[in-house]
Amino acid sequence: MVKKQLNILFVASEVVPFAKTGGLADVSGALPKALKERGHNVIVVMPRYYQIDKGTLTHVEGSLGVPMGPMGELWAGVYTTTLPESDASIYFIDHEQFFGRRGLYDDNGESYSDNDNRFIFLSKAAFQLSKMLGFSPDIIHANDWHTAAMPLLARTRFVHDFANAATVLTIHNLQHQGNFFKGGIDVMEVGWEHFNPMEFESFDRLNLLKGGIAHADAVTTVSKRYAQEIQTPEFGFGLQDHIRAHASKLFGILNGVDYDEWNPSVDSHIAKSFDVGDMEGKLACKRALQNHFGLAVRDDVPLIGFVGRFAEQKGIGLIAGVLDGLMQQDLQIIMLGTGEKWAEHYFSEAAGRYSGKFGIHVGYSDALAHQIEAGCDLFLMPSLFEPCGLNQIYSLRYGTLPIVRATGGLDDTIENFNEAHRNGNGFKFEIPTQEALYYTVLWAVSIYYNDKNAFAAMQEKAMQMHFGWDDAAAEYEKVYRYAIAKRHVEQLQ
Ligand code: ADP
Ligand code: GLC
Repeated sequence: MVKKQLNILFVASEVVPFAKTGGLADVSGALPKALKERGHNVIVVMPRYYQIDKGTLTHVEGSLGVPMGPMGELWAGVYTTTLPESDASIYFIDHEQFFGRRGLYDDNGESYSDNDNRFIFLSKAAFQLSKMLGFSPDIIHANDWHTAAMPLLARTRFVHDFANAATVLTIHNLQHQGNFFKGGIDVMEVGWEHFNPMEFESFDRLNLLKGGIAHADAVTTVSKRYAQEIQTPEFGFGLQDHIRAHASKLFGILNGVDYDEWNPSVDSHIAKSFDVGDMEGKLACKRALQNHFGLAVRDDVPLIGFVGRFAEQKGIGLIAGVLDGLMQQDLQIIMLGTGEKWAEHYFSEAAGRYSGKFGIHVGYSDALAHQIEAGCDLFLMPSLFEPCGLNQIYSLRYGTLPIVRATGGLDDTIENFNEAHRNGNGFKFEIPTQEALYYTVLWAVSIYYNDKNAFAAMQEKAMQMHFGWDDAAAEYEKVYRYAIAKRHVEQLQ
């Protein structure tokens, strides 16, 4: 008999609203909530980082013994609460030495040297917690390299209690693979027979994501296009052949958006609410934003926004390369982000040179991210690669037309403006060159100035599109059932 309600153990290194550096946290906050709403029994597990105030959580009695190979057994405390607006429980693994630090993965750009141990610890603690709670998962859902040891751990070190659990690994970003000194195999306690190029070895080092891909019953990534791309040398970061070898269990599922959070008709961060058919508020948001960034307050000039990590992935090199040229045009640009120091300096310096036309906020600000989505006319996202990308999807809902490179989730969500049919929801270019970006921005700006009807029709279409988590959760459910069926067959053999 097919079981309707599944027990799902969902483990991630960051979850909104508790800790976030990027989209992984948005997904880890929203997908479990959507699965719970579909009637499943989900628990989420993440570290209790220093920044998460214990006072807001409930302490769970008892402590977890986590076997760490040569390091012996280490002990962790456990805290819990529920996800906001949900009754799905989230558990926090508390360990001063590993997680009582300022950053999640690094301190000011410098990665912690024991990240292998920190996240192998999280992975193992999740198994021990599950046992302590008497929670017997049908599905163990791991995310990115941090928890990619879990699929093999379920078949080796923890097989006694988790033999029936099927494993799913989601790749949010293939660039980060968890590449470490090979001694991590001893900490995992899985046996050196798993250290070979088909499993955890890459050039005599431990590659956690590679091993996770080999052992998970199903692997997903966050858009259909990216699922194809990662099988090629351009996007595979060296794992393309390995991924091709496992392509029969690879699925692309586009991320959803939490429309309770990102919706101009109810957004508490923005100057004035608006919606399709009532766009007046958007102008108030634009003026507020121009004021905030010290730009000329003009309704008639196209305002272009960027929100994101200052990382090469996001095409910041391309933006830096075209900035001087774009500043010769009648347009305004604002940027919000942090990351690579050269970019922080370069753009800050440019804001001085082009004051009144170009503004930047170096830092992390959720409120400002919402205000940029709401007040801009166009959104810039020229990523070199983009597994899914959330900002362009938020932009659509706010009628802020994205200018993107046709890659990954950007390609799956943005329909290029078609001059002949005068439809589309954004502007796209294929080749990641400065010329392509430059001329695509100029093209978007010329439509803004010269074809106001087409621009407004695109905005209307964009705002009516729906990328809900309900649909994505239904697709994950199919993958879970596939993984469970596969596991059953294996157990019969
Ligand atoms: P990635 O996960 O690669 O960083 P996504 O587009 O999937 O890219 O998700 C990025 C998320 O982080 C979005 O929710 C975005 O609004 C947010 N974000 C990124 N940088 C900042 C920042 N400086 N301030 C506020 N939010 C940010
Ligand atoms: C990654 C990707 C981004 C994706 C996010 C959530 O950080 O870079 O494209 O949207 O994960 O899946």
